[in-house]
Amino acid sequence: MTDATRSARVIDGKAIARATRAALATRIAGLGFRPGLTVVLVGEDPASAVYVRSKDRAAREAGIDARTIRLPADTTEPALLAEVARLNADPTVDGILVQLPLPPQIRAQAVIEAIDPAKDVDGFHPLNAGRLADGRPTLVPCTPLGVMKLLAATEVPLRGARALVLGRSGIVGRPMAALLLGADATVTIAHSRTRDLAAECRRADVLVAAVGRPEMVRGDWIQPGATVIDVGINRLPDGRLVGDVAYAEAAAVAGAITPVPGGVGPMTIACLLENTLTAALARRG
Ligand code: GUN
Repeated sequence: MTDATRSARVIDGKAIARATRAALATRIAGLGFRPGLTVVLVGEDPASAVYVRSKDRAAREAGIDARTIRLPADTTEPALLAEVARLNADPTVDGILVQLPLPPQIRAQAVIEAIDPAKDVDGFHPLNAGRLADGRPTLVPCTPLGVMKLLAATEVPLRGARALVLGRSGIVGRPMAALLLGADATVTIAHSRTRDLAAECRRADVLVAAVGRPEMVRGDWIQPGATVIDVGINRLPDGRLVGDVAYAEAAAVAGAITPVPGGVGPMTIACLLENTLTAALARRG
């Protein structure tokens, strides 16, 4: 970079998430009932325990009736499916979230497909994924929904823009591409088998990186002035937390960029609360 003064606008996910949560709390306070969210945590994975506590606290702060069910690591798949069936039938539960990953004896897909699609606040059920792919989104996965809110808050134009989604997971990449397409972007999905990834990235006006590979996207992969959204959260051996994008290099080229942490992460929880409200309203007609 010859122009050393050039630097991207930093997209403050923490602040945007705070505002989103405050607006949700106001809406929920005016409802006359409390939406219910139940989070199920199986086992003792420390990262999952931290996430679940954050979700529970944020939900309570928004006025949601939040409950966490903790099950032992040796829970069987039939036992977890029975718990899901009980929550499906419980009228006080509007949203069900089974925290992933699950222990190896439980098939995550079987559990996801057992959740009532009307209570699927993760948006992972094939019916909800299919509706989104079909352009009729209902309950949408929280992380890509959060990215759309960051783009809207930053007033990034999407209609006709070239958007590149790096990663094709069912949790982020695929639903992200569907949402960007729904916003009239011209969408490319790139992945580990894509030829000349750098060239694909350089064409993008909006680049969403969701591959889980620390600092893979370099500064010279980015079109000057592009918007860069970094979904990655990677822990380096030295303990540092970095995204999928080499932040300092990218920030020197991009027009706007999300930091890690403090970018996409806080929006994921805000969108879980929003999905809980969406499910609660839909269930009450
Ligand atoms: N584990 C990490 N992220 C998520 C998520 O968004 N939903 C669920 N259920 N588990 C997760």
